[in-house]
Parts: sequence; C-alpha cells; structure tokens
Amino acid sequence: MHRDPQAAYDYYRQAIAGQTLPVALVDMELFDINLRAILEQAGDKPLRIAAKSVRCPTLLRHALDSDPRCQGLMCFHAREACALAAQGFDDLLVAYPTVQAEDVRAVCAAVRAGHRILLMVDCPAHVEALAAVARAEQVTLPVCLDVDMSWRLPGLHFGVFRSPVREVEQALAVHRVIKASGCLRLEGVMGYEAQIAGVGDAVPGQALQNRVIRWLKRGAIPRLQQRRADVVQALRDDGAPLVLVNGGGTGSLDSTRHDPSVTEVTAGSGLFAPTLFDHYARHRYAPAAMFALEVARQPDAEHVTCLGGGYIASGSAMPPKTPLPVLPEGLALEPNEGAGEVQTPLRGNTLPEIGAPVFFRHAKAGELCERFNALLLIREGRVEARADTYRGLGWQFI
Ligand SMILES: Cc1ncc(COP(=O)(O)O)c(C=O)c1O
Repeated sequence: MHRDPQAAYDYYRQAIAGQTLPVALVDMELFDINLRAILEQAGDKPLRIAAKSVRCPTLLRHALDSDPRCQGLMCFHAREACALAAQGFDDLLVAYPTVQAEDVRAVCAAVRAGHRILLMVDCPAHVEALAAVARAEQVTLPVCLDVDMSWRLPGLHFGVFRSPVREVEQALAVHRVIKASGCLRLEGVMGYEAQIAGVGDAVPGQALQNRVIRWLKRGAIPRLQQRRADVVQALRDDGAPLVLVNGGGTGSLDSTRHDPSVTEVTAGSGLFAPTLFDHYARHRYAPAAMFALEVARQPDAEHVTCLGGGYIASGSAMPPKTPLPVLPEGLALEPNEGAGEVQTPLRGNTLPEIGAPVFFRHAKAGELCERFNALLLIREGRVEARADTYRGLGWQFI
C-alpha cells in the first residue's frame, strides 16, 4: 500500500501508461488484502460474496477461488443468477424478490439442469407467483425468506423498507403457503441488517451524529439478532428444511459473525472499498478500485477539467454520493458543478497537465462497473489482465 500520495499517483499512472482514458482499475494486491480482512472480520462464518458489489465475473471467480471459506454468491437478479450459472458459478442466492414469470422460468430451467439457485420471498404473493411457474415447469424450487431487520422506534425507522416479515407468526404464515404450494421448499432465511452494515458511524465532522448512530446500532444489534434467531427456530420447528441463514454486509461483519443462528455472512463492497465505506468505527478497507479520467483542458490557473466523471452513486441524494478525486493529491470538486455528465472541473494548487490522468474513487462498489466495459487489473505495477464487467458482457438486469 502506498502511504505517500505522490508515490501512489506515479505508481498508478505508470501502471496505466498507454491506456486510452477513461479506464476503471482494480489494484489486485489491495483487493486481496481486503478479502483477507473481510474473512478475518467474518470470524469462523463462511462468506457469500455480494455479486452486485463486484459485477465482474473474473473478480468473483478470483475471490471464490482465493479461500475455501468463500462459498457462493449473493445475486441481485434472477437472470443474473442464470447468467452466472451459465458461466460455471454455483450456489447462487438471489437476495431480492421478483415475480417476472419469464425470469422465474429461466431459474427453473437452471435448477432442472442441476444449478443451485435460491429465490427470495417475503409474502404469499411472491410464493404464489413462483409456485405457478414452478408447477408448470414441474420443478421444485428452493426459496429463501427475507426477514425485516429494521428497528422501529417511535418517530424513527432505523433500517430499510424491504420485507414485511417481522414477527415469527408472519414467517410461519409464509411458510404455510410455501408448504401448501407443493413445489417450493424453504431452504433459507436471510436477515440483512442494512442499517448496521451500510451506515458509517465515524464520519468526519459529524461527531454528534456518529454518537447517535453508534448508540442506535448498539441498541439494534441484540434485538435484531434475537428476532432472526426466533424466526429461524420457529421455522425449523415448523419443519422448514433450512440449509442457510444469511446475514450481514461489509459494515456489520464484526457483529453478525457473533449471531449463532447465522450460518453464513455476506460481503462485497469491502473488496473494492468505495468511499461510503471509509468511515466506520470498527474497520477500514483499502481503496482497491478507482477510475482515471484525462485532464482535457485548463480553464484558469486554479482549475483543470476532466472529460467525464459524473458517476453519481444511487441511494439518497447526499453529497458523499459523488466520486472523490484522490490522486494526484490536493484536487477538489467544484461545489457548483460537482462531477459532471461529460466534464468534471477540479480545483487545486498543483495541477496535472493536459492528457494526464486523475484518479477518482466511486462512492459505491459495483456501480462503478455500470460505467465501464472492463476493469484493468493491476498487480506489481502493471496491468495483469483486462476483465469484462457485467456491462462489458452486455448484462443488464435492472
Ligand atoms: C441483502 C443484502 N445482503 C448483504 C449486502 C451487503 O453487501 P456489501 O457488503 O456489498 O455492502 C447487501 C447490500 O446491499 C444486501 O442488499
């Protein structure tokens, strides 16, 4: 890892010399360091890689092959799971429900061909839609129940809006419909504590807010782990042949790993370590993914303007969702323009020359890959491979 920003700039600039800008790159040495750090954070739990946070089959394969504790992928779409299965990946948990018949039919075909794909459900409507297709296709589909892990306090919803299943009774009600379907089998439970895993709690300049978030996290963790454990126990008692109980994300591994009801944890973002994961009290990952834009013009003595760059991350429209110029050191976005659709002005004292690269980090992990067809994989100061992203493969699911 380069401690000196000038050395880091020179290193990456040299590594991508001769490439046509813009490019996206992954420092594979840092990627591997992050994977080891994630596994350490995960304790003794197996790790499912969040494919949406990588969106590059070569890197997914690399992560899975790096350590036997990396087991399976968490997908964001049924067709993504089918596409990955066709590339030889297996043990695919689709973490977000869908009722599109054609997509479910594609999953049925993959399951019939011997691939292991679990679809997500959280209500009878999901179950009935999946069952209608599975019945027609004469396939038994394994499914996973998503349990809401938000903490609802008077006047505050600490969590996300996803599954309506919060109580044991609600979980058992969905299980009853699954059993009655005759063609689905409840093999998994997922309880993703998004507000623990995805909310920074050591953000510079927000001391009070950090304290409140840490207090909320401390209060939520035992309550939500109890909820997940109660649901899992009740479903097992009700005869559910559960094979997996999934929890966690990059930002919650140090607590999720202590939940005895959880059989595996998920993480993905920590591999690239985008800027939204910079400010957590309990961990820090190395910035492995970046993109480089060319300096295309110099409007005055304090600015350069790069071509491209407006890769704003999804989610609530908060300032940290913009890319961050990191190398060379000392460049900042112009507040009035931000990272623009086709041009990104940067202010600084020492300015790179026209044609030079400026390296940015994205706020989120896999979304970077929606902007580039390939990632340059950098190792030992040179491009060791060029790996297709989902976009480069023509994969568009949502
Ligand atoms: C269901 C689920 N599990 C786990 C994760 C964690 O992924 P990451 O480690 O990339 O933050 C996510 C991210 O959104 C998720 O939606």
